[in-house]
This record gives sequence, C-alpha cells and structure tokens, in this order.
Amino acid sequence: MNLSIKNISKTYSNGVQALKNVSLEINNGMFGLLGPNGAGKSTLMRTIAALQDADNGSIMIGDINAAQDKQKLREILGYLPQEFGVYPKISCYDLLDHMAVMKGMVDSKIRKEIVESLIHQTNLWDAKDRNLGTYSGGMKQRFGIAQALIGDPKLIIVDEPTAGLDPMERNRFHNLLSEIGENVIVILSTHIVDDVRDLCNDMAIILDGEVKMVGEPIELIKSLNGKVWKGLVDKNEVIKIEEQNQVISSRLHMGKVQVRVFSHTPLENSFEKTDAEIEDLYFSTIHGLDLSGAE
Ligand SMILES: Nc1ncnc2c1ncn2[C@@H]1O[C@H](COP(=O)(O)OP(=O)(O)O)[C@@H](O)[C@H]1O
Ligand SMILES: [Mg+2]
Repeated sequence: MNLSIKNISKTYSNGVQALKNVSLEINNGMFGLLGPNGAGKSTLMRTIAALQDADNGSIMIGDINAAQDKQKLREILGYLPQEFGVYPKISCYDLLDHMAVMKGMVDSKIRKEIVESLIHQTNLWDAKDRNLGTYSGGMKQRFGIAQALIGDPKLIIVDEPTAGLDPMERNRFHNLLSEIGENVIVILSTHIVDDVRDLCNDMAIILDGEVKMVGEPIELIKSLNGKVWKGLVDKNEVIKIEEQNQVISSRLHMGKVQVRVFSHTPLENSFEKTDAEIEDLYFSTIHGLDLSGAE
C-alpha cells in the first residue's frame, strides 16, 4: 500500500495557514512526522483521516481517494487522535466492544475474540473491567491503540501518542507500536525526537506548515556526518560561540552547557567531532541553519 499526499494546503477561517503545499509519499512501515507544536501535524493527520477538508491537493491511499471515498477510507483506517477522550465511567472491555460494533462487527462471537485479543496485545487484560477514568496516561494511550487496531486497519494514524507519558510508559508504548505488522502504514506524529529515533524507518520534519526534510533517518543523518562538533563550555561562553558559529543546540549539563555546532572545519580545542544524531537534524532544521555544503 502507498499513501500519496499531493500539494495539500489548508488555511483556517482565522487566517492561519496550517499547511503549505505539503506533498509526501509514504509506504508500509512506520513513518515519523516530526515537528514542534503548531507545525501543522494534527491538521495533516485529520486531513488524511478525512475528518476535515483541505483547500486543495489530493490524498490517495492505494486507489482510495480520501476526500471522495470516506466510507472506504474508514474501513481501512485506524486513528488515535491527539485529544483522545474516553468515557470515564465505562470499562475498557465494554467500550472496545461498543467501538467494534460501530465498526460493523455484529457477530458477537467473532467480536469477543477480536476484543480479547486486542486487550491482550495492549497488555490491559488485568485492567479490562476497570472504568477508563481510573486509567493512567499510559494505559489510556494503550487503550487508544487497541481501539485504533479494531478491524485490521491498513493505515494507522497516531497523533502525538507519547506526549505526557513518563519514560517507562513511553518505552512500553514504543514496544507496542513496534509490534504492529509491517504490512501496514503507520504514521506517527510527534514532537519527541526519541519516538522517531526508536521506531521510524522513514521520516519528515514539518515546520510552519511546510515539509522541510524527508527521507530515511539513516540517510538524512549521513549528510551531517563529520560536521557536528560538541563541546562542554561555561555559560558565559555560549553567546560568543553562538555569534561565531552555526549552533545546532545548547543544553545545560551538570552546571555547564553542552553545545553542538555544525561546521565544515574543525573548531577550537574544547570542541570535538561527534556522530550526528536525529536530534541534530531536527534542531538544525528548526533553527534554520544553513547546511549547504553538507553532502
Ligand atoms: N480549528 C482551527 N482553527 C484555527 N486554527 C487552527 C485550528 N486548528 C489548528 N489551528 C492552527 O493551525 C496551526 C497548526 O496547528 P496543528 O495542526 O494543531 O499543529 P500541531 O499538531 O503540529 O501542533 C497552529 O497555528 C494552530 O493554532
Ligand atoms: Mg497536534
């Protein structure tokens, strides 16, 4: 299956241009859509899910036109929205069962098998009879995946599913996502670089409604290799370093500042060459660094 997004633009009625001529080709596997808050991720996810219309452009999933064949799209789509509200006073089992009915699973015996298998898959068996209002953030998100997987979808969209999870819950959630079959398209939107690093074989960086970079993380990183330098400096040195260099990122580290710089030529002694990481791609894109000359 192939998802082909062509020239999608969207301006909201308040004048915000959330998507600017976005085009992407997405194949089976886990695709990471990485971008900061406000970049346009949720707008794009909702448009692919045909929950809102674009101003122009087209989205094809195989031979299904998302905007025109909404019913067909729904049959192959699993969607976990960013704001996923659950009814607090209903149990995990009952809501999943209900959602399976809504998806057309009328045979109660088959439905029972499917619901139970999804509950096992998402590791919620021991909590299946508890009301969803008592669930932790991580459990809610696992429930969110369970409902997205009802009916064997071929296209699964998960919008910022790890935001707000603690590191252990995130790890558990990563494992769950990584077990979703390889013969489906999974689109994961996130502002968390680790999500993409751990899970995605393909990625795009989106900023201000525009796709700034797209490709396989391993290939994209190669373009930076040999040009990333890191140094641990005093706080009062940072401004000067920023004035004189293309700083990718700087963050506090044990009372000092860990600075990463993009440069074709060696920096002064306190800096050493280091391997490029996805985070370097992301921050240099967001900070608008000029990476020309990087090959
Ligand atoms: N329903 C809406 N009406 C008006 N503006 C919106 C609406 N939804 C999103 N926006 C604006 O569109 C931009 C992109 O938002 P969004 O797609 O939610 O980005 P992200 O999911 O990457 O945070 C933001 O500036 C946001 O404020
Ligand atoms: Mg969003």
